[in-house]
Amino acid sequence: MTCIIRKEKEQDRSAVANINTISFGSPAEADLVKSLQSQGYAVVSLVAEVDQQVVGHILFSRVLVVSESKTWTALSLAPMAVLPEYRRQGIGTRLIAAGLEACRAQGHSAIVVLGDPAYYSRFGFSSELALDLDSPYAGHSGWMALELTPGILAGRSGHVEYPPPFQALVGTETAH
Ligand SMILES: CC(C)(COP(=O)(O)OP(=O)(O)OC[C@H]1O[C@@H](n2cnc3c(N)ncnc32)[C@H](O)[C@@H]1OP(=O)(O)O)[C@@H](O)C(=O)NCCC(=O)NCCS
Repeated sequence: MTCIIRKEKEQDRSAVANINTISFGSPAEADLVKSLQSQGYAVVSLVAEVDQQVVGHILFSRVLVVSESKTWTALSLAPMAVLPEYRRQGIGTRLIAAGLEACRAQGHSAIVVLGDPAYYSRFGFSSELALDLDSPYAGHSGWMALELTPGILAGRSGHVEYPPPFQALVGTETAH
């Protein structure tokens, strides 16, 4: 199986919506992607393509980390999904690896995620790094952060402000 990871294009949007709706069992994540993109919060959006079919997607979007002394921009990884029949073949891993590289290349320094620790820890996400980051997801076992710039989160606390499109998902405890 040859799988290509590439930037999402305008013409991929309905395939991406379909992947998210199938993978999460509701249109909530597909709507989230659409809103983040149309409202200008999306930063990196990649797709996985097999035999000219889009089978996977990952999105990174901007969040603000607000503290008394400083407000800075971090990224949120959400959502990511691979069509069920293409899972467990490393496509998700490749989407994350390419996504992290693209975020790093754009100069971003940290990423937060709510997801399964067993999965995301493979890529360097950790609950410890997110300990001082407050958010609607803080306290959840899947609340994690990753440093693209080593040490960037050391001694930095703050409240992670998700943009409005996330409001519909907060409280559902959906892992991404
Ligand atoms: C999560 C997801 C994107 C992984 O895609 P994938 O292409 O299967 O990922 P990979 O092949 O790179 O990795 C699969 C590995 O992750 C594990 N894994 C898959 N889904 C997982 C999940 N939701 N939580 C934790 N681990 C998961 C598998 O056990 C597998 O482990 P193994 O390599 O030891 O067998 C895919 O399962 C998916 O779309 N799930 C539904 C949507 C979702 O829950 N997204 C949020 C992820 S937390």
